[in-house]
Amino acid sequence: MLPPQRHLFDIPEGVSYLNCAYMSPLLKRVTAAGQRAVARKAHPWEITAADFFSEVERARRLFATLLGGGAGPGDVAIVPALSYAMSVACANIPLTRGQSVLLLDEEFPSVILPWQERAREVGATAVLLPRPEDDDWTRVILDAIDQRTAVAALPALHWTDGALIDLPRVATRLREVGAALVVDATQSLGAMPFPLADVQPDFLAAAGYKWLLGPYSLGFLYVAPRHQQGRPIEHNWIIRAGSEDFTSLSNYERALELRPGARRFDVGETSNFALMPMAIAALEQLLEWGVASVGETIRVLTDALVRRAAEIGLDAVPAARRAPHYVGLRFPRGVPPDLPQRLAADRIYASVRGRSALRVTPHVYNTAADIDRLIGAIGSVRS
Ligand SMILES: Cc1ncc(COP(=O)(O)O)c(C=O)c1O
Repeated sequence: MLPPQRHLFDIPEGVSYLNCAYMSPLLKRVTAAGQRAVARKAHPWEITAADFFSEVERARRLFATLLGGGAGPGDVAIVPALSYAMSVACANIPLTRGQSVLLLDEEFPSVILPWQERAREVGATAVLLPRPEDDDWTRVILDAIDQRTAVAALPALHWTDGALIDLPRVATRLREVGAALVVDATQSLGAMPFPLADVQPDFLAAAGYKWLLGPYSLGFLYVAPRHQQGRPIEHNWIIRAGSEDFTSLSNYERALELRPGARRFDVGETSNFALMPMAIAALEQLLEWGVASVGETIRVLTDALVRRAAEIGLDAVPAARRAPHYVGLRFPRGVPPDLPQRLAADRIYASVRGRSALRVTPHVYNTAADIDRLIGAIGSVRS
């Protein structure tokens, strides 16, 4: 358990920010790193050729450490968005006519849309698995896997309400039928340890601006070693072997070879001088806290929220199936349509996602007082 960490963020008194799944606030140290980074671009003579590579390698190493499970910097590519990472996966996982892709209904479009498009192209079927009444997505997924399944693209938890998916079990079953697994860890990595060695995903990616506490437009893609000879979706100079030597960039013959490991999947302008130092500062803080400690600290707040919410007649995914950092509060007669706006008027911030839940996602800057304020405000909207 961590003590409250609000002093490390710039959150004014009176603001109850319970919406990390939308976008995290920046740590003060991340803001400072960004300000230094922007100022550096004013003096490009201070940016050396080595700088194009050194910070990126540091970010890869930190992300690999956070992911754990034996991942190393060479397994990590830099991506601008989850949709980009998903497009890399789509381009590298075999899919043919008659096969199927398993997806969860109401999942985030950056997961769904690339696979729907790819399935259309080859005559495969993109299946949207229906939401189970009892929140047991794992059972629904296991029941759907068969010999036609080529790939499943899944999160560790549903982004609308935090309902968990047992990825180690699902991965084992997918391996039995020879299917691939792509994981969107955007809403889990940074707040929950990831069992990489058990899951062995083909690809795993996370946008960086939520639970990784980083800037917008910089995320990470883990690529299993078995795909590290795969096909990039764009051809930029920096993924080419020898790109460190700026004097011979137009030696196109040599440049046919790509840099080792997952680096071949890096987005162009990978070095991203403004944002990379921010991502690094954020990952360093997460590693200092420890991901498990972050999750357990938040769990105290989400457990208290669910208990208090039950007293006013609101339901949530049962504790055994709910992620530690995530609650979707269900209203028996539906979420009042203007609830987020009414809460925002009191400077309390949460989101409505999917069809039926108020999504409440605290972090280590929140305290029990924020939960009290939220419950009080919901009570007054409903009375
Ligand atoms: C589950 C999930 N995946 C991914 C994203 C972000 O996707 P992208 O980086 O493609 O905008 C979000 C944003 O809300 C999300 O909730």
